[in-house]
Amino acid sequence: MKKIITGGTIVTAADQYRADLLIENGKITEIGQGIQAEDAEIIDATGKYVFPGGIDPHTHLDMPFNNTVTDDDWESGTIAAAFGGTTTILDFCLTTGKARLLDAVDKWHEKAKDKAVIDYGFHLMIADLTEDTLKQLPEALEIAGINSVKVFLAYAKEFQATDRTLFQAFKVGKEKDAIVMVHCENGSVIDELVEEAKALGHTEPIYHALTRPPQLEGEATKRAIELANLAGAKLYVVHVTCKEAVDEIIRAREKGYQVYGETCPPYLVLDQTALEKPNFEGAKYVWSPPLRPKEHQEVLWNALKAKQLQTIGSDQCSFSFNGKKQLGKEDFSKIPNGGPFIEDRLSVLYSEGVAKGRITLNEFVDMVSTSAAKTFGLFPQKGTIAIGTDADLVLFDPNVERVISAETHHMNVDYNAFEGLKVKGEPVSVFSRGEFVIRDKEFVGKLGRGQYIRREVKKEGKPVITK
Ligand code: URP
Ligand code: ZN
Ligand code: ZN
Repeated sequence: MKKIITGGTIVTAADQYRADLLIENGKITEIGQGIQAEDAEIIDATGKYVFPGGIDPHTHLDMPFNNTVTDDDWESGTIAAAFGGTTTILDFCLTTGKARLLDAVDKWHEKAKDKAVIDYGFHLMIADLTEDTLKQLPEALEIAGINSVKVFLAYAKEFQATDRTLFQAFKVGKEKDAIVMVHCENGSVIDELVEEAKALGHTEPIYHALTRPPQLEGEATKRAIELANLAGAKLYVVHVTCKEAVDEIIRAREKGYQVYGETCPPYLVLDQTALEKPNFEGAKYVWSPPLRPKEHQEVLWNALKAKQLQTIGSDQCSFSFNGKKQLGKEDFSKIPNGGPFIEDRLSVLYSEGVAKGRITLNEFVDMVSTSAAKTFGLFPQKGTIAIGTDADLVLFDPNVERVISAETHHMNVDYNAFEGLKVKGEPVSVFSRGEFVIRDKEFVGKLGRGQYIRREVKKEGKPVITK
């Protein structure tokens, strides 16, 4: 079925103009004024922006973590994403213990298969970065069609790489032309600070932030940067929160290092005082790295504006307050780390960024869609509006004003970290490959319609020889 979207203002990372769009067989086939096509359904987008669908490069759906499992699975998670204007997600396929990387990929396909309502790809995410998992990595990336892998300098007991294994992962990244994503916090020193705090009898959520200071994010970021550069690999620093880390990224990029950075909506609008909320409510704001004192927000906005940070991931990793967050009621270090952000990523960035004059519309599109598409090998199929691209589109009403609330969100979690935040602008209709998934704020998609997107790595990669 053909569709014509008429009367809207098309916005890409580069352009803004009034034109109609013709959609055929899931693709954009014509852009121009007064398009006509026989049998086409006409969709009036007058007064709306037409954005490329959002691409969320950082989600954790149905993922076992911190002795529990995230509350949004591939059904509620992708539906909430679609309501928020996201049409592609890249989810972390976690391998723990002695499991084979490709078995974890199979498991992730199973989780997604009959549920995903939007398109998706995976990043590998390795908890145990050992000789064995590193040996599997090049082939796993190739067979699975994945060009990115996340490893950790945080979470000392369960996830933390050594400098040596991190360097080895970078060597594989270089060999396969895959991007290595690193969670940059110094896990060992954090564990020491956590033990110190607990020995002094501190149990409250705020100690999650106080035991993970920005210096430890800055230090780990610098270490990852230098080791990646030594291996000649591309580094993507996930969820950057603070000046200490931003400064390292800027320094490296000015030297020509291949370093990219992502931040996430909560770090731009919430601050560390949220963890001090009474009655254990601070636990709603426990994730890692933690929220920072307010002055870091401006640093992040400036870095985004200057393209020193390029992408906005949601870091969706939801745990309900009345269920899973209570695991840490007596001990802040047992509060499951993560928050529910997949749905409000575009709205918060548009409202706090564009509507408040911090960033332009084109920069907004770049940050929530185009830049992730380019970084992770989805462009130009995804991440822009042009003839031949997938018709993944958002009709966005910039004039609506609303208040974010768990009462109205679609995530499977009993709180919203942005509760009460007044936002301007809202996705009204969302198309994935030309099909309505959200139509006039109603979900009309089909479970399991989302397609897996392969992102190829170099087939003939040679091992890196250090001179
Ligand atoms: O606290 C967070 N960010 N939870 C998700 C796992 C991770 O480190 O990204
Ligand atoms: Zn992380
Ligand atoms: Zn994450």
